Amino acid sequence: MFVRSLHTSDFRNLREVAYTPHPRVNVIFGDNGQGKTNLIESIFLLATQRSFRRSKLDDLVRFGCEKAEVIARICHGEVERRLAVQILTRPSRKIALCDGKSARSSDYFQGVHVVLFAPEDLLLPKGSPEERRRFLDRAIWNTCPSYLDEVRTYEQVLKSRNAVLKSMLAASGMRRRPSFGSDGELATVEHSEDSESLLSVYSEQLAVAGGRIIARRRHYLQTIAPQVEATFDRISRSGLRASLEYRPKVIGRDIEVASPSELQSILYEQLERDRKRDRIRGFTHSGPHGDDMVIGLDGRDAALHASQGQVRALVLALKITEIQHLFCLHGDPPVLLLDDVSSELDAQRNGYLFDFLRAMPSQVFITTTSPEHVKLDQDRLDVRMNHGGLWSDAVAS
Ligand SMILES: Nc1ncnc2c1ncn2[C@@H]1O[C@H](COP(=O)(O)OP(=O)(O)O)[C@@H](O)[C@H]1O
Ligand SMILES: [Mg+2]
Repeated sequence: MFVRSLHTSDFRNLREVAYTPHPRVNVIFGDNGQGKTNLIESIFLLATQRSFRRSKLDDLVRFGCEKAEVIARICHGEVERRLAVQILTRPSRKIALCDGKSARSSDYFQGVHVVLFAPEDLLLPKGSPEERRRFLDRAIWNTCPSYLDEVRTYEQVLKSRNAVLKSMLAASGMRRRPSFGSDGELATVEHSEDSESLLSVYSEQLAVAGGRIIARRRHYLQTIAPQVEATFDRISRSGLRASLEYRPKVIGRDIEVASPSELQSILYEQLERDRKRDRIRGFTHSGPHGDDMVIGLDGRDAALHASQGQVRALVLALKITEIQHLFCLHGDPPVLLLDDVSSELDAQRNGYLFDFLRAMPSQVFITTTSPEHVKLDQDRLDVRMNHGGLWSDAVAS
Protein backbone atom coordinates (compact mmCIF):
# COMPACT_ATOMS: atom_id res chain seq x y z
CA MET A 1 0.00 0.00 0.00
CA PHE A 2 1.08 3.59 -0.44
CA VAL A 3 -0.41 7.05 0.06
CA ARG A 4 -0.64 8.89 -3.26
CA SER A 5 -1.95 12.14 -1.81
CA LEU A 6 -2.97 13.51 1.56
CA HIS A 7 -5.12 16.46 2.42
CA THR A 8 -5.89 17.70 5.91
CA SER A 9 -8.06 20.56 7.05
CA ASP A 10 -8.22 21.78 10.63
CA PHE A 11 -6.62 18.61 11.89
CA ARG A 12 -4.83 19.75 15.08
CA ASN A 13 -2.53 22.59 13.94
CA LEU A 14 -2.56 21.46 10.29
CA ARG A 15 -4.95 24.02 8.90
CA GLU A 16 -4.80 23.20 5.20
CA VAL A 17 -2.16 20.74 4.09
CA ALA A 18 -2.07 19.32 0.58
CA TYR A 19 0.71 16.78 0.32
CA THR A 20 1.82 14.54 -2.52
CA PRO A 21 4.29 12.16 -0.91
CA HIS A 22 6.98 10.15 -2.64
CA PRO A 23 6.07 6.46 -3.04
CA ARG A 24 9.26 5.57 -1.14
CA VAL A 25 10.93 7.76 1.46
CA ASN A 26 9.39 10.94 2.85
CA VAL A 27 11.30 13.02 5.36
CA ILE A 28 9.26 15.60 7.27
CA PHE A 29 11.61 17.91 9.08
CA GLY A 30 11.27 21.04 11.18
CA ASP A 31 11.67 22.40 14.66
CA ASN A 32 9.79 20.99 17.62
CA GLY A 33 6.13 21.86 18.03
CA GLN A 34 5.56 22.56 14.33
CA GLY A 35 3.17 19.70 13.53
CA LYS A 36 5.36 16.82 12.32
CA THR A 37 3.82 14.27 14.67
CA ASN A 38 0.39 15.66 13.83
CA LEU A 39 1.01 14.78 10.18
CA ILE A 40 2.02 11.23 11.12
CA GLU A 41 -1.06 11.07 13.33
CA SER A 42 -3.30 12.14 10.43
CA ILE A 43 -2.05 9.22 8.30
CA PHE A 44 -2.45 6.86 11.24
CA LEU A 45 -6.00 8.13 11.81
CA LEU A 46 -6.84 7.52 8.21
CA ALA A 47 -5.49 3.98 8.34
CA THR A 48 -6.96 2.96 11.71
CA GLN A 49 -9.71 5.51 12.44
CA ARG A 50 -7.93 6.07 15.77
CA SER A 51 -5.25 8.27 17.19
CA PHE A 52 -2.13 6.73 18.65
CA ARG A 53 -2.03 9.46 21.26
CA ARG A 54 -4.27 9.23 24.29
CA SER A 55 -6.54 11.88 22.88
CA LYS A 56 -10.25 12.38 22.83
CA LEU A 57 -11.81 12.80 19.40
CA ASP A 58 -12.34 16.52 19.95
CA ASP A 59 -8.62 17.03 20.64
CA LEU A 60 -7.95 16.25 17.00
CA VAL A 61 -9.95 19.23 15.79
CA ARG A 62 -8.08 22.52 15.47
CA PHE A 63 -8.70 24.77 18.47
CA GLY A 64 -11.81 26.87 17.89
CA CYS A 65 -13.03 24.78 14.91
CA GLU A 66 -15.95 22.36 14.73
CA LYS A 67 -14.71 19.92 12.13
CA ALA A 68 -11.44 18.30 11.10
CA GLU A 69 -10.96 16.27 7.96
CA VAL A 70 -8.23 14.02 6.60
CA ILE A 71 -8.53 12.72 3.06
CA ALA A 72 -6.11 10.48 1.19
CA ARG A 73 -5.79 8.58 -2.02
CA ILE A 74 -4.53 5.14 -1.09
CA CYS A 75 -3.15 2.64 -3.60
CA HIS A 76 -2.76 -1.06 -3.18
CA GLY A 77 -1.99 -3.15 -6.20
CA GLU A 78 -4.02 -1.77 -9.07
CA VAL A 79 -6.69 -0.37 -6.79
CA GLU A 80 -6.86 3.29 -5.83
CA ARG A 81 -9.37 4.47 -3.24
CA ARG A 82 -10.21 7.75 -1.59
CA LEU A 83 -10.44 7.39 2.18
CA ALA A 84 -11.69 10.20 4.38
CA VAL A 85 -12.14 10.64 8.11
CA GLN A 86 -14.11 13.56 9.47
CA ILE A 87 -14.19 14.49 13.14
CA LEU A 88 -17.05 16.68 14.27
CA THR A 89 -17.32 18.26 17.69
CA ARG A 90 -21.02 19.14 18.09
CA PRO A 91 -21.90 16.48 18.98
CA SER A 92 -18.59 14.66 19.11
CA ARG A 93 -18.47 12.02 16.39
CA LYS A 94 -16.38 10.44 13.65
CA ILE A 95 -17.38 9.71 10.08
CA ALA A 96 -15.31 7.41 7.87
CA LEU A 97 -15.85 7.41 4.13
CA CYS A 98 -14.51 5.27 1.33
CA ASP A 99 -14.87 6.81 -2.14
CA GLY A 100 -17.34 9.32 -0.69
CA LYS A 101 -19.63 6.71 0.86
CA SER A 102 -19.84 5.30 4.35
CA ALA A 103 -18.35 1.83 4.30
CA ARG A 104 -18.30 -1.22 6.52
CA SER A 105 -15.06 -1.53 8.50
CA SER A 106 -14.04 -4.63 6.57
CA ASP A 107 -14.30 -2.72 3.26
CA TYR A 108 -12.73 0.47 4.54
CA PHE A 109 -9.69 -1.29 6.01
CA GLN A 110 -9.22 -3.69 3.10
CA GLY A 111 -5.52 -3.63 2.16
CA VAL A 112 -4.77 -0.68 4.49
CA HIS A 113 -1.75 -1.46 6.65
CA VAL A 114 0.43 0.99 8.49
CA VAL A 115 3.04 0.35 11.15
CA LEU A 116 3.89 3.16 13.52
CA PHE A 117 7.23 3.36 15.26
CA ALA A 118 7.28 6.15 17.83
CA PRO A 119 9.63 7.00 20.72
CA GLU A 120 7.01 5.69 23.19
CA ASP A 121 7.45 2.22 21.67
CA LEU A 122 10.99 2.17 22.96
CA LEU A 123 9.57 1.97 26.48
CA LEU A 124 7.44 -1.06 25.67
CA PRO A 125 9.30 -3.70 27.74
CA LYS A 126 9.26 -1.41 30.78
CA GLY A 127 5.80 0.05 30.18
CA SER A 128 2.45 -1.14 31.50
CA PRO A 129 0.81 -4.45 30.46
CA GLU A 130 -1.93 -2.32 28.87
CA GLU A 131 0.59 -0.78 26.49
CA ARG A 132 1.93 -4.20 25.56
CA ARG A 133 -1.61 -5.46 24.98
CA ARG A 134 -2.27 -2.47 22.75
CA PHE A 135 0.91 -3.16 20.79
CA LEU A 136 -0.06 -6.81 20.43
CA ASP A 137 -3.65 -6.12 19.41
CA ARG A 138 -2.63 -3.52 16.86
CA ALA A 139 -0.06 -5.89 15.34
CA ILE A 140 -2.60 -8.74 15.17
CA TRP A 141 -5.26 -6.49 13.70
CA ASN A 142 -2.87 -5.63 10.86
CA THR A 143 -2.62 -9.33 10.09
CA CYS A 144 -6.34 -10.01 10.43
CA PRO A 145 -8.97 -7.23 10.05
CA SER A 146 -11.76 -9.23 11.78
CA TYR A 147 -9.71 -9.19 14.99
CA LEU A 148 -10.96 -5.67 15.72
CA ASP A 149 -14.56 -6.91 15.88
CA GLU A 150 -13.50 -9.86 18.02
CA VAL A 151 -11.86 -7.52 20.54
CA ARG A 152 -14.87 -5.18 20.49
CA THR A 153 -17.24 -8.10 21.15
CA TYR A 154 -15.11 -9.20 24.07
CA GLU A 155 -15.02 -5.67 25.51
CA GLN A 156 -18.79 -5.31 25.22
CA VAL A 157 -19.48 -8.60 27.00
CA LEU A 158 -16.90 -7.75 29.66
CA LYS A 159 -18.60 -4.41 30.24
CA SER A 160 -21.99 -6.09 30.59
CA ARG A 161 -20.63 -8.76 32.93
CA ASN A 162 -18.92 -6.12 35.07
CA ALA A 163 -22.14 -4.10 35.21
CA VAL A 164 -23.98 -7.14 36.61
CA LEU A 165 -21.19 -7.76 39.12
CA LYS A 166 -21.27 -4.15 40.19
CA SER A 167 -25.03 -4.17 40.69
CA MET A 168 -24.74 -7.40 42.70
CA LEU A 169 -22.06 -5.77 44.82
CA ALA A 170 -24.23 -2.71 45.38
CA ALA A 171 -27.24 -4.88 46.22
CA SER A 172 -25.28 -6.85 48.78
CA GLY A 173 -24.17 -3.63 50.48
CA MET A 174 -20.55 -4.64 50.18
CA ARG A 175 -19.46 -1.71 48.06
CA ARG A 176 -16.78 -0.50 50.48
CA ARG A 177 -14.89 -3.59 51.56
CA PRO A 178 -15.11 -7.34 51.21
CA SER A 179 -16.22 -9.21 54.30
CA PHE A 180 -14.52 -12.34 55.48
CA GLY A 181 -16.01 -15.22 57.41
CA SER A 182 -14.48 -16.55 60.64
CA ASP A 183 -12.49 -19.09 58.62
CA GLY A 184 -10.98 -16.28 56.53
CA GLU A 185 -13.07 -17.30 53.51
CA LEU A 186 -14.83 -14.56 51.58
CA ALA A 187 -18.40 -14.43 52.83
CA THR A 188 -21.18 -15.66 50.58
CA VAL A 189 -24.06 -13.34 49.84
CA GLU A 190 -27.42 -14.33 48.44
CA HIS A 191 -28.18 -12.82 45.03
CA SER A 192 -31.24 -12.76 42.89
CA GLU A 193 -31.62 -15.67 40.52
CA ASP A 194 -31.88 -13.23 37.61
CA SER A 195 -28.46 -11.75 38.29
CA GLU A 196 -26.95 -15.19 38.76
CA SER A 197 -28.31 -16.51 35.50
CA LEU A 198 -27.29 -13.34 33.68
CA LEU A 199 -23.79 -13.81 35.05
CA SER A 200 -23.75 -17.37 33.72
CA VAL A 201 -24.78 -16.20 30.26
CA TYR A 202 -22.07 -13.53 30.22
CA SER A 203 -19.47 -16.00 31.48
CA GLU A 204 -20.23 -18.28 28.57
CA GLN A 205 -20.11 -15.44 26.04
CA LEU A 206 -16.95 -14.05 27.58
CA ALA A 207 -15.28 -17.45 27.43
CA VAL A 208 -16.11 -17.79 23.72
CA ALA A 209 -14.92 -14.28 22.81
CA GLY A 210 -11.94 -14.40 25.19
CA GLY A 211 -10.79 -17.84 24.03
CA ARG A 212 -10.56 -16.49 20.48
CA ILE A 213 -8.41 -13.56 21.59
CA ILE A 214 -6.10 -15.80 23.62
CA ALA A 215 -5.69 -18.09 20.60
CA ARG A 216 -4.82 -15.17 18.31
CA ARG A 217 -2.37 -13.56 20.71
CA ARG A 218 -0.69 -16.86 21.42
CA HIS A 219 -0.43 -17.69 17.72
CA TYR A 220 0.99 -14.27 16.82
CA LEU A 221 3.67 -14.36 19.51
CA GLN A 222 4.62 -17.96 18.74
CA THR A 223 4.93 -17.02 15.05
CA ILE A 224 7.11 -13.95 15.44
CA ALA A 225 9.24 -15.01 18.45
CA PRO A 226 11.92 -16.90 16.45
CA GLN A 227 12.29 -14.00 14.02
CA VAL A 228 12.55 -11.45 16.84
CA GLU A 229 15.30 -13.60 18.33
CA ALA A 230 17.22 -13.76 15.02
CA THR A 231 16.79 -10.03 14.30
CA PHE A 232 17.88 -9.05 17.79
CA ASP A 233 20.94 -11.22 17.38
CA ARG A 234 21.87 -9.37 14.18
CA ILE A 235 21.24 -5.93 15.72
CA SER A 236 23.01 -6.42 19.02
CA ARG A 237 25.70 -8.97 18.10
CA SER A 238 25.97 -9.61 21.83
CA GLY A 239 25.27 -13.33 21.87
CA LEU A 240 22.33 -12.69 24.21
CA ARG A 241 19.02 -14.31 23.36
CA ALA A 242 15.82 -12.31 22.94
CA SER A 243 12.52 -13.98 23.72
CA LEU A 244 8.82 -13.23 23.72
CA GLU A 245 6.54 -14.97 26.13
CA TYR A 246 2.77 -14.76 26.28
CA ARG A 247 1.39 -14.37 29.82
CA PRO A 248 -2.36 -14.90 29.65
CA LYS A 249 -4.39 -13.95 32.71
CA VAL A 250 -5.99 -17.30 32.96
CA ILE A 251 -4.53 -20.22 34.81
CA GLY A 252 -5.11 -23.43 33.01
CA ARG A 253 -3.55 -26.58 31.83
CA ASP A 254 -1.64 -26.51 28.60
CA ILE A 255 -2.47 -22.95 27.55
CA GLU A 256 0.43 -23.14 25.13
CA VAL A 257 -0.96 -26.08 23.19
CA ALA A 258 -4.72 -26.06 23.88
CA SER A 259 -7.01 -25.80 20.85
CA PRO A 260 -9.21 -22.68 20.53
CA SER A 261 -12.24 -24.55 21.89
CA GLU A 262 -10.18 -25.93 24.78
CA LEU A 263 -9.06 -22.38 25.53
CA GLN A 264 -12.70 -21.35 25.75
CA SER A 265 -13.39 -24.15 28.24
CA ILE A 266 -10.31 -23.23 30.28
CA LEU A 267 -11.44 -19.61 30.46
CA TYR A 268 -15.00 -20.61 31.31
CA GLU A 269 -13.79 -22.84 34.15
CA GLN A 270 -11.62 -20.00 35.45
CA LEU A 271 -14.55 -17.55 35.35
CA GLU A 272 -16.66 -20.03 37.29
CA ARG A 273 -13.88 -20.56 39.85
CA ASP A 274 -13.55 -16.76 40.23
CA ARG A 275 -17.28 -16.16 40.40
CA LYS A 276 -17.51 -15.64 44.15
CA ARG A 277 -14.51 -13.32 44.24
CA ASP A 278 -15.68 -11.42 41.16
CA ARG A 279 -19.01 -10.75 42.90
CA ILE A 280 -17.23 -9.40 45.95
CA ARG A 281 -14.83 -7.27 43.91
CA GLY A 282 -17.50 -6.11 41.49
CA PHE A 283 -15.48 -6.80 38.35
CA THR A 284 -14.14 -9.66 36.26
CA HIS A 285 -10.67 -10.71 37.34
CA SER A 286 -9.57 -13.26 34.72
CA GLY A 287 -9.47 -13.01 30.96
CA PRO A 288 -7.50 -11.46 28.12
CA HIS A 289 -8.13 -7.94 29.44
CA GLY A 290 -5.42 -8.77 31.98
CA ASP A 291 -2.97 -10.48 29.60
CA ASP A 292 0.64 -9.50 29.27
CA MET A 293 3.68 -10.48 27.26
CA VAL A 294 7.20 -10.63 28.61
CA ILE A 295 10.02 -9.39 26.45
CA GLY A 296 12.99 -11.36 27.69
CA LEU A 297 16.74 -11.21 27.41
CA ASP A 298 18.72 -14.35 28.11
CA GLY A 299 15.83 -15.83 30.04
CA ARG A 300 15.19 -12.76 32.20
CA ASP A 301 12.52 -10.09 31.97
CA ALA A 302 14.09 -7.23 29.98
CA ALA A 303 11.97 -4.74 31.94
CA LEU A 304 13.98 -5.57 35.04
CA HIS A 305 17.37 -6.58 33.73
CA ALA A 306 18.12 -5.04 30.33
CA SER A 307 20.09 -1.83 29.78
CA GLN A 308 18.49 1.06 27.95
CA GLY A 309 20.46 0.22 24.80
CA GLN A 310 19.39 -3.44 24.98
CA VAL A 311 15.75 -2.44 25.47
CA ARG A 312 15.94 -0.26 22.36
CA ALA A 313 17.52 -3.04 20.34
CA LEU A 314 14.77 -5.42 21.50
CA VAL A 315 12.01 -3.02 20.44
CA LEU A 316 13.73 -2.39 17.12
CA ALA A 317 13.85 -6.15 16.54
CA LEU A 318 10.17 -6.41 17.47
CA LYS A 319 9.13 -3.63 15.08
CA ILE A 320 11.26 -4.90 12.19
CA THR A 321 9.81 -8.37 12.67
CA GLU A 322 6.27 -6.99 12.71
CA ILE A 323 6.89 -5.22 9.39
CA GLN A 324 8.57 -8.23 7.73
CA HIS A 325 5.82 -10.52 8.93
CA LEU A 326 3.15 -8.26 7.43
CA PHE A 327 5.01 -8.04 4.14
CA CYS A 328 5.27 -11.85 3.94
CA LEU A 329 1.63 -12.30 4.87
CA HIS A 330 0.05 -9.76 2.50
CA GLY A 331 2.72 -9.71 -0.23
CA ASP A 332 2.41 -5.94 -0.06
CA PRO A 333 4.63 -3.79 2.15
CA PRO A 334 2.88 -1.75 4.85
CA VAL A 335 3.31 2.03 5.08
CA LEU A 336 5.83 2.86 7.78
CA LEU A 337 5.39 5.85 10.06
CA LEU A 338 8.58 6.65 11.97
CA ASP A 339 8.06 9.51 14.36
CA ASP A 340 11.41 10.92 15.41
CA VAL A 341 12.82 7.52 16.26
CA SER A 342 16.33 8.04 14.91
CA SER A 343 17.13 10.62 17.57
CA GLU A 344 16.44 7.95 20.20
CA LEU A 345 18.75 5.33 18.72
CA ASP A 346 22.53 5.20 18.70
CA ALA A 347 24.61 5.20 15.50
CA GLN A 348 24.86 1.45 15.19
CA ARG A 349 21.12 0.82 15.66
CA ASN A 350 20.27 3.69 13.35
CA GLY A 351 22.57 2.13 10.77
CA TYR A 352 20.68 -1.14 11.10
CA LEU A 353 17.33 0.64 10.83
CA PHE A 354 18.34 2.52 7.67
CA ASP A 355 19.75 -0.64 6.06
CA PHE A 356 16.42 -2.29 6.77
CA LEU A 357 14.43 0.65 5.33
CA ARG A 358 16.59 0.65 2.20
CA ALA A 359 15.83 -3.02 1.62
CA MET A 360 12.10 -2.90 2.49
CA PRO A 361 10.07 -1.57 -0.46
CA SER A 362 7.65 0.30 1.83
CA GLN A 363 6.54 3.87 1.59
CA VAL A 364 8.11 5.52 4.63
CA PHE A 365 7.29 8.73 6.48
CA ILE A 366 10.06 9.84 8.83
CA THR A 367 9.88 12.93 11.01
CA THR A 368 13.03 14.53 12.33
CA THR A 369 14.51 17.83 13.41
CA SER A 370 17.70 16.98 11.46
CA PRO A 371 17.08 15.62 7.95
CA GLU A 372 20.81 15.11 7.42
CA HIS A 373 20.66 12.34 10.04
CA VAL A 374 18.34 10.31 7.84
CA LYS A 375 20.88 8.24 5.95
CA LEU A 376 18.70 7.35 3.00
CA ASP A 377 19.78 9.03 -0.20
CA GLN A 378 17.67 7.68 -3.01
CA ASP A 379 13.96 7.88 -3.84
CA ARG A 380 13.43 10.49 -1.20
CA LEU A 381 11.39 13.66 -0.81
CA ASP A 382 12.06 16.14 1.99
CA VAL A 383 9.40 18.59 3.17
CA ARG A 384 9.62 21.18 5.91
CA MET A 385 6.89 21.48 8.55
CA ASN A 386 6.53 24.99 9.85
CA HIS A 387 3.63 26.25 12.00
CA GLY A 388 1.34 23.53 10.65
CA GLY A 389 2.19 24.23 7.00
CA LEU A 390 4.19 22.01 4.67
CA TRP A 391 6.90 23.48 2.46
CA SER A 392 8.65 21.52 -0.18
CA ASP A 393 11.73 23.73 -0.29
CA ALA A 394 14.16 20.86 -0.19
CA VAL A 395 15.49 18.83 -3.05
CA ALA A 396 13.39 15.96 -4.32
CA SER A 397 15.32 13.06 -5.78
N1 LIG B 1 -6.33 20.60 18.44
C1 LIG B 1 -5.30 21.39 18.17
N2 LIG B 1 -5.47 22.58 17.54
C2 LIG B 1 -4.44 23.38 17.25
N3 LIG B 1 -3.17 23.07 17.53
C3 LIG B 1 -2.92 21.91 18.15
C4 LIG B 1 -3.96 21.00 18.49
N4 LIG B 1 -3.41 19.92 19.10
C5 LIG B 1 -2.10 20.16 19.13
N5 LIG B 1 -1.78 21.34 18.57
C6 LIG B 1 -0.48 21.96 18.41
O1 LIG B 1 0.36 21.12 17.65
C7 LIG B 1 1.70 21.40 18.01
C8 LIG B 1 2.49 20.15 18.25
O2 LIG B 1 2.54 19.45 17.09
P1 LIG B 1 3.46 18.17 16.96
O3 LIG B 1 3.06 17.52 15.69
O4 LIG B 1 3.41 17.36 18.19
O5 LIG B 1 4.90 18.86 16.83
P2 LIG B 1 6.27 18.24 16.36
O6 LIG B 1 6.64 18.98 15.11
O7 LIG B 1 7.23 18.54 17.47
O8 LIG B 1 6.09 16.79 16.15
C9 LIG B 1 1.69 22.23 19.25
O9 LIG B 1 2.04 23.55 18.91
C10 LIG B 1 0.25 22.14 19.72
O10 LIG B 1 -0.18 23.31 20.36
MG1 LIG C 1 6.88 15.22 17.29
